[in-house]
Amino acid sequence: MFEPLILGIESSCDETSVGIVAGHELKANVVASSVEEHARFGGVVPEIASRAHLEAMRPTLTCALEQAQVELADLDAIAVTAGPGLMGALVVGLSAAKALACVLNKPLYGVNHLVGHVGVDMIEHGPLPKPCMALLVSGGHTTILRVGDIATDVTEVGSTIDDAAGEAYDKVARLLGLPYPGGPVIDQLAAQGDSKAISFPRGLTAKHDLDRHRFDFSFSGLKTAVARWVELRRRGGQEVPVADVAASFQEAVADVLTAKTVDACQEFGMDTVLLGGGVAANSRLRVLLGQRCEQAGITLRRPRPGLCTDNGAMIAVVGAELVRAGVRPSGLDIPANSGMPVSQISV
Ligand code: KG4
Ligand code: ZN
Repeated sequence: MFEPLILGIESSCDETSVGIVAGHELKANVVASSVEEHARFGGVVPEIASRAHLEAMRPTLTCALEQAQVELADLDAIAVTAGPGLMGALVVGLSAAKALACVLNKPLYGVNHLVGHVGVDMIEHGPLPKPCMALLVSGGHTTILRVGDIATDVTEVGSTIDDAAGEAYDKVARLLGLPYPGGPVIDQLAAQGDSKAISFPRGLTAKHDLDRHRFDFSFSGLKTAVARWVELRRRGGQEVPVADVAASFQEAVADVLTAKTVDACQEFGMDTVLLGGGVAANSRLRVLLGQRCEQAGITLRRPRPGLCTDNGAMIAVVGAELVRAGVRPSGLDIPANSGMPVSQISV
């Protein structure tokens, strides 16, 4: 099989990353993060992110080429995140990719960041069964997807109606006085807490919600419930059992995500589910989804945590699939699309 050599550039949020793949084979994946520059603001500051991308882009590219032991001239195409993400941040990656494509006279593919999160597992576990289901859980998105073909056919089955799962993690961490990003910190703390200590709500699981929102999620009520619970304790002068709150919150998130994903697989007759996005690194989500899929006879494909958070390899591997599927390359004039819908795989 043709194994196109693709360089992928990712710059949608606070990670500047360049990955190189040959088909599904990972050759390099270099990530420079500006997360520490944002930490004191409690979230990503777009202007700081854009500047950091500008500074990191060239060294990251050089490092990836060295790691992969390839020359720019050897590449078959350049893939780049075209959206969704922060406008100023996306533009930096797109400009770099366009410059490379133009100078090297190679095809350019503007790729959807979310599809990258879903497709990254091909690097670890090979081609995807067609069709399969995917649970995409990131800082900005929480979605169940039907993946007919990763290069040509991705449709949304359900989605969050308010906050994304990662956003809920970050907000809950903030109200507990924990640093940004909240996901990894809560994940670690939860390991020392009791997940049954507090019964937090499971959004959109009541009977009357299931009629309209069977495969949709809601995490803003959960976040408010945690805030109220913590506030009541503080007002009463009691200590807040942070580990128990973290574990109980994490259980509520993992419970809803996994129950709805398995339900969607059964409803649509899918026997494989792909896990993707930054929150896919979460230890409890990985275990619980594994257990529930096994009980339901569903194969779960989870990329290793290091591939779950934003990286260039996930963009490169989708680029390789686009090349193999014969999808038309993007023009050099493609815009950044901060609100790119997940069903738009490439530009
Ligand atoms: O996919 P991602 O790297 O960036 C976006 O595209 O949004 O996801 C970042 C999100 C953040 O909200 C972060 O708190 C969350 O992923 N995250 C986690 C874990 N690691 C990262 N959430 C829960 N548990 C984790 N271990
Ligand atoms: Zn992401």
